[in-house]
Amino acid sequence: MNKTPAFLFALALSAALSACSGTAPRQEPPLEGARIGGAFSLTDQDGQTVSDTDFAGKHRIIYFGYSFCPDVCPIDLQKIAAGFALFEKQQPERAAKIQPIFITIDPERDTPAVLKQYVSAFHPRLIGLTGTPEQIKAVADAYLVMYKAQKPEGGDEGAGYLVDHSRQAYLMGPKGEPIALLPYDESPEKIAAEIDKWTA
Ligand code: NI
Repeated sequence: MNKTPAFLFALALSAALSACSGTAPRQEPPLEGARIGGAFSLTDQDGQTVSDTDFAGKHRIIYFGYSFCPDVCPIDLQKIAAGFALFEKQQPERAAKIQPIFITIDPERDTPAVLKQYVSAFHPRLIGLTGTPEQIKAVADAYLVMYKAQKPEGGDEGAGYLVDHSRQAYLMGPKGEPIALLPYDESPEKIAAEIDKWTA
């Protein structure tokens, strides 16, 4: 049977309608609507006060840890930095609107000066944030990050100590809203792909 003009008209109309209503349905970010994040006021590696609103309009990659961490933090940070550096190569303009942030959960030892040296070892645009123990507790709570210093009995200050802490690499949106967790134990390609997917 021949296709009638009416059929062709209906086809054209439906194509036009679907073009109007968009293509694939929007994929919901995994952390959309989660109660994670919020306002903070901290001190950066140059001793300047920094608030969450200073990053308005920028996506943020946020990782909590501490510079004395012997193994986990440096490995995670290296991988996140490698993924971000790859994304910078692929999409320099979009990457410029993403701020990578390291927040210490060991503010006693992670002074701005200590953080300055630490963050620069991973990525030139990584900023390090510290604060009072109360400020750090508040921001860690807001990001659902748990931590506990394993200080030796008797308070031997010279002995050093480890801090147990949870590992999350958050991708937050331009209003500070949670979007996704970055797969910090994957390849730079996969991390870059995840950044690409949620910051388009
Ligand atoms: Ni660590």
